[in-house]
Amino acid sequence: MTTKTLDTPSAKPLLEWYDRHHRDLPWRISPGMATRGVKADPYHVWLSEVMLQQTTVQAVKPYFARFLQRWPTVIGLAEAENDEVMAAWAGLGYYARARNLKKCAEAVARQHGGVFPDTEEGLKSLPGIGDYTAAAVAAIAFNRQAAVMDGNVERVISRLYAITTALPAAKPLMKEKVAMMTPADRPGDFAQAMMDLGATICTPKRPACSLCPFRGSCEALRLSDPEFFPVKAAKKEKPVRNGAAFIAVTDEGEILLRRRGESGLLGGMTEVPTTAWTARIDGETSASAAPFDAAWQACGTVIHVFTHFELRLSIYRTAVVARVGTNDGWWEPVTNLEAQALPTVMKKAIAAAIPLAFKTSKG
Ligand code: ADE
Repeated sequence: MTTKTLDTPSAKPLLEWYDRHHRDLPWRISPGMATRGVKADPYHVWLSEVMLQQTTVQAVKPYFARFLQRWPTVIGLAEAENDEVMAAWAGLGYYARARNLKKCAEAVARQHGGVFPDTEEGLKSLPGIGDYTAAAVAAIAFNRQAAVMDGNVERVISRLYAITTALPAAKPLMKEKVAMMTPADRPGDFAQAMMDLGATICTPKRPACSLCPFRGSCEALRLSDPEFFPVKAAKKEKPVRNGAAFIAVTDEGEILLRRRGESGLLGGMTEVPTTAWTARIDGETSASAAPFDAAWQACGTVIHVFTHFELRLSIYRTAVVARVGTNDGWWEPVTNLEAQALPTVMKKAIAAAIPLAFKTSKG
């Protein structure tokens, strides 16, 4: 347990700032409402938090709206087809999260009668819920005094205390500081206020310190160098992997797709035929690795950066007069690609061969 010390900055100015300047987001209740017994919907909070681990608030909004329209309750999501959930997730990235999302919905529906556990420990027992999501849902949906740490909060706290230890080693210390500051009466508002402050005022570059509610107590500002924090350990270069992807299109406008194996990267998602992705540059990146013999035409290279490596995919295209027999995969009209569970790297590969394939897509 941590105890409050004299040098712990008060959360009060931050909460007052949040009351006036909070962002109105579709999964939120208004500031101060939780102390009056109004509850945010735990399903909404959980769904938004899982999505927000992938990308920005702006990018999440349309996905969040679509999910809720399609699956208004966690029980509905539990009963959905896996493929539909993967297709609705496509574009958000890191597809293991979508699989876990579905598994978590199933656990809540089947083992908890459709009601989310209301403690950090209970939430952590669910599939796919780690320290961050458990703390965020406990604080935001259940007003529990949980210390919520994400990238924005790390930046704010590292500056407030001028923490010189580099990330990720500094995380436990940062969490301890956040725990000391988290107020018992408004933990959910506090967590979201820290996130909003990090997103709008305490930004990575050129923070707006003159507008910050912590300007009187921020150590980094006192040292006149807020941008120096958070200190980060030097990044290792990502390894490069190579492969080839094959886009075959019939004269009826159908493209050959297949489904990736359940386990591993992009498991269960849809793809165009590709070779394995290897660290070697010989062999598997040429048309000789194609799924069938045809006049394969090279159309450039697509680079996609995953968490642990950079992929360079050589793209080949061929026109076939009729469906070629393949023992795995299916032929899908190019006009129906939006409805497929295609990860971004595959959309990029297809777009390199068929420039207008995703003309309305942002994914
Ligand atoms: N990023 C992650 N969770 C968030 C939330 N609840 N509000 C704003 N930004 C967030």
